[in-house]
Amino acid sequence: MNYLDYINSNKERYLDELKQFLSIPSVSTDPKHKHDVRACAEFVEKKLTEAGLENVKVYETGGHPLVYGDWLYAGDDKPTVLIYGHYDVQPVDPLELWNAPPFSPTIKGDKIFARGASDDKGQVFIHVKSIESYLKTKGNLPINVKIIVEGEEEIGSDHLDSFIESNKSLLGCDFVLVSDTAMYQPGLPAICYGLRGLVYMEVNVTGPNRDLHSGAFGGAVDNPANALAHIISRLKDLNGEILIPGFYDDVKELTDDEREEFRKLPFNEEKFKDDLGVEDVFGEKGYTTLERKSARPTLDVNGIWGGFQGEGAKTVLPSKAGAKISMRLVPDQDPDKIQNLFTDYIKSIAPKSVKVEISGTHNAKPAITPIDSDEINAAKVALKRSFGVEPVFIREGGSIPVVNTFQELLNAPTILIGFGLNDENIHSPNEHFDLNNFYKGIESISFYFEELGKLNYSNK
Ligand code: BES
Ligand code: ZN
Repeated sequence: MNYLDYINSNKERYLDELKQFLSIPSVSTDPKHKHDVRACAEFVEKKLTEAGLENVKVYETGGHPLVYGDWLYAGDDKPTVLIYGHYDVQPVDPLELWNAPPFSPTIKGDKIFARGASDDKGQVFIHVKSIESYLKTKGNLPINVKIIVEGEEEIGSDHLDSFIESNKSLLGCDFVLVSDTAMYQPGLPAICYGLRGLVYMEVNVTGPNRDLHSGAFGGAVDNPANALAHIISRLKDLNGEILIPGFYDDVKELTDDEREEFRKLPFNEEKFKDDLGVEDVFGEKGYTTLERKSARPTLDVNGIWGGFQGEGAKTVLPSKAGAKISMRLVPDQDPDKIQNLFTDYIKSIAPKSVKVEISGTHNAKPAITPIDSDEINAAKVALKRSFGVEPVFIREGGSIPVVNTFQELLNAPTILIGFGLNDENIHSPNEHFDLNNFYKGIESISFYFEELGKLNYSNK
């Protein structure tokens, strides 16, 4: 049997196993789910073993565990690819906005709904099932394959760098392959060559030592919620420009060629607005929406709290207020430097009438990956064979912290081929994954293995 027939005749089972994977609540940020996260690693371990990989093992990292497996019999003249993905997921709140429970995968039409369906369990499973389909039908792979699936991507991959540092030969490879991004649009595959970096901060403002009657005390003591609003209003102007001194110093401007490529991509701004239910787009002057959402730096409040939030009114001057604020970075901005600039600026504008504490949660470096290589050309051939059209090259606005680490520690470039879609609600209620892309993904990656097997690495 060839692998395409195998994929076809195992469709139901693949879907069934994906459902099991999606049923495990592996929310990495929540200590309450620590055991579920481990159970999920063990599930991945089992699936890698069943796929026919060897040396499959759950490794401890100091945080959540990661899973590794390999198949290394293709020979030295064949490429060695390291496939990377994550089995951890984002929190599910607000739970009441889900149409079905987030960890009871539900199929509606061609879509499977569950937290992690698109980001990233469904996409990780594409690789596992490509490997299985290939190995079970041919008895071998045309290239050497290593796979690492981690459990801390959604919280910044904090323990992964040191794992890579101390396991360089285990993970050594010619390049890394990742499916944790999106296609450009339905039917149009994309190779992503740029990711933004991230600085995630928390600002806590404290005023009086207890909540106060806003009539009895208002006007005489500062209100931390007002002070916080004042601080936030000075981070960004009404044109979307970030006001932190030095913030833009290291930003590499887009080249004319790059901007031309952006302009060539099909993009319907009216539809974009309609989908999101917004009257207008918003962002830095002088840049298009596509440029703003993937290739320009940003600053956003992710969450804000303080004072009375219940039904009705309570006249109170709160004791505390706070906000979580993220900045997406582009090359060559450095997260540590931006974190310091942010902290210094807030300290310099914070009113003396309140106490302001600033702390960092996690950082990720931005990344740009090369697109003029034999491996990229092979990816183009494989995607065209599966989808019938050439992929487009795009930059994505999200972050995958380890991409930079692979380059720095393993000297390995990353190829990002995503099978998600932009409207699949990742990090949001009702996350889902298009099952057509799940199966197309399995086919594409199998084709990709085959194309990569044609490359001769004996001179590399
Ligand atoms: N799959 C995403 C990255 C992504 C999002 C790529 C959107 C392309 C478009 C990934 O799992 C993710 O969400 N990463 C986090 C990393 C952060 C916590 C360091 C992110 O970008 O918020
Ligand atoms: Zn994510």
